[in-house]
Amino acid sequence: MQTPNTHSGRTAKTHGTGKEVAKAELAKTAVKPSQFPDTNWPEVAFVGRSNVGKSSLINALLNRKKLARTSQHPGKTRTINFFNVEDRLYFVDLPGYGYAKVSKTESAKWGDMVEGYLKDRPPLKHIFLLMDIRHEPSAGDKQIHQWCRFYNLPYTIIATKSDKIKKSQVQKHLAVIRKALEEESPPLPFSSESWDGRDAMWAVIETMILQPKPMQ
Ligand code: GTP
Ligand code: MG
Repeated sequence: MQTPNTHSGRTAKTHGTGKEVAKAELAKTAVKPSQFPDTNWPEVAFVGRSNVGKSSLINALLNRKKLARTSQHPGKTRTINFFNVEDRLYFVDLPGYGYAKVSKTESAKWGDMVEGYLKDRPPLKHIFLLMDIRHEPSAGDKQIHQWCRFYNLPYTIIATKSDKIKKSQVQKHLAVIRKALEEESPPLPFSSESWDGRDAMWAVIETMILQPKPMQ
C-alpha cells in the first residue's frame, strides 16, 4: 500500500483525490497587456526559473495532464498563459527566467513582458514563487523574491520536485531555502508527480480568494 507522498511513477497515488476542478481551460495567450483578459477575476501567478516545474504544477493543481504545455527542455513556455479556473479565477503560467540559451535580447524581452505583468496588474492577488527543492536559490530566484517583497506582492514560496529527494531529506532542503531567503517560515514542498503539497496549495488559493487582502 502506498502512502500519498511516496514517489513511484504515475500510478496509485493521490491522483483522483483531493480538490476536483470542474472546469479548466486555456483562456488567453498574451505577450502584451492589451491581450490580457478583462474579466477582472482574481489572478494567481506562477513564477520561477525555466524548468522548475511551473506548467507541471498548474496541471497537477488542475488535474489536467497536458493543459499547460511542459517539456524536459527549459524555455518551453514563451508567452503569458491565462487558464480559466471554474469561471472564477485565472492561473497565470509565465515563461521562466535564467535560461542560459536565450539571447540577451530575448532575456530582456522576458523581463519586460513578465515584469510588465507582475508590476502593473490589479487582478493579480497572489504569486507562487517556485524553486527547485534540490538547489539553493539562484541569483534570479533571490532577485524576484526581493522584488515581490519590495512591491509588497503577496507570495508563497514553493519547493518543487519534492519527489526527487528522499523524504527524510525534505525538511533539511526546505531549511536551506528558508535561510538563503531570510524567510521566517520554510517553503511549501510540492511534487507534480506525487501531488505532495497539492491540498496545501489549494488551501492558500482558497484563503486568498475568500479573504483577499489589498495589494498595497
Ligand atoms: P519553462 O516553461 O521552460 O519555464 O519550464 P516550467 O517551469 O514550466 O517547467 P515544466 O513544468 O515544463 O517542467 C520541466 C521538467 O521538469 C519536465 O520534464 C517535467 O516533467 C519535470 N517536472 C516538473 N515538475 C516535476 C516534479 O514535481 N517532479 C518531477 N520528478 N519532475 C517534474
Ligand atoms: Mg512552462
